[in-house]
Amino acid sequence: MKVKGIIAVDLFGLPADYDAITAIAKDNNLFVIEDAAQSFGADYHGRKACSLADVACTSFFPAKPLGGYGDGGMCFTDNDDLADLIKSLRIHGKGIHKYDNVRIGINGRLDTLQAAILKAKFEIFPEEVELRQQVVQRYNEMLVSLQPDLAEIKTPMVPDGMRSVWAQYSLLAKDTEHRTKIQERSNAAGIPTAIYYPIPLHLQAAFSNLDYTKGDFPVSEDFSQRIFSLPMHPYLTAEDQKRISNVILSTGRE
Ligand SMILES: Cc1ncc(COP(=O)(O)O)c(C=O)c1O
Repeated sequence: MKVKGIIAVDLFGLPADYDAITAIAKDNNLFVIEDAAQSFGADYHGRKACSLADVACTSFFPAKPLGGYGDGGMCFTDNDDLADLIKSLRIHGKGIHKYDNVRIGINGRLDTLQAAILKAKFEIFPEEVELRQQVVQRYNEMLVSLQPDLAEIKTPMVPDGMRSVWAQYSLLAKDTEHRTKIQERSNAAGIPTAIYYPIPLHLQAAFSNLDYTKGDFPVSEDFSQRIFSLPMHPYLTAEDQKRISNVILSTGRE
């Protein structure tokens, strides 16, 4: 198999390690696509997410940091030829006008209603990114202060020089059994939790042709057994967070 490019995924709001990825790409003459579906609004050493690779793609699905009320997304590039190609692909492979078709494309137009909603939400987006930092700081403080040695639940960290936009606030339980108990107890208390993601990419049926097996990516496999995410949005109150943290940390101590 000949590798042509790298799709780096910015997970949970944090950009991937683009210094390392770009160096590998350069050495091997590969293009890089930034999957910035979860990182729109994040910072990477003074640069913004969506500007960290040859092309970046983000998502405006409702659950994303900048979410519309339905589907939507955007591509970013500073390469004019690529920008023209993407614009053409977006509208059925258009050429100089929309009834001139020079290639097979897709219908990838952003719906007008979604565009209007996103435009309004974009104005308060910087404020919401700040609020997200405050919500996470509160979660971290509550979860750390209630279990100083962090033996039970691991909180997320952000490397120096980076700022996450916290698409998710994810924690690691001790093991699968502990996670199941936490989810059951949270559910009973009316607190939604979610698992992103229960099956690592290399074990997905869709990629079975690549012949990976269990044990090939032990860290991903381990995390997929223990990870879970808490409610996360810019308007979460300290009071709600306290209640959530207490339920999470009381699990397994009884
Ligand atoms: C990392 C990542 N990539 C891609 C996507 C796909 O985005 P969309 O469903 O808007 O195409 C998502 C959204 O779930 C995502 O989280």
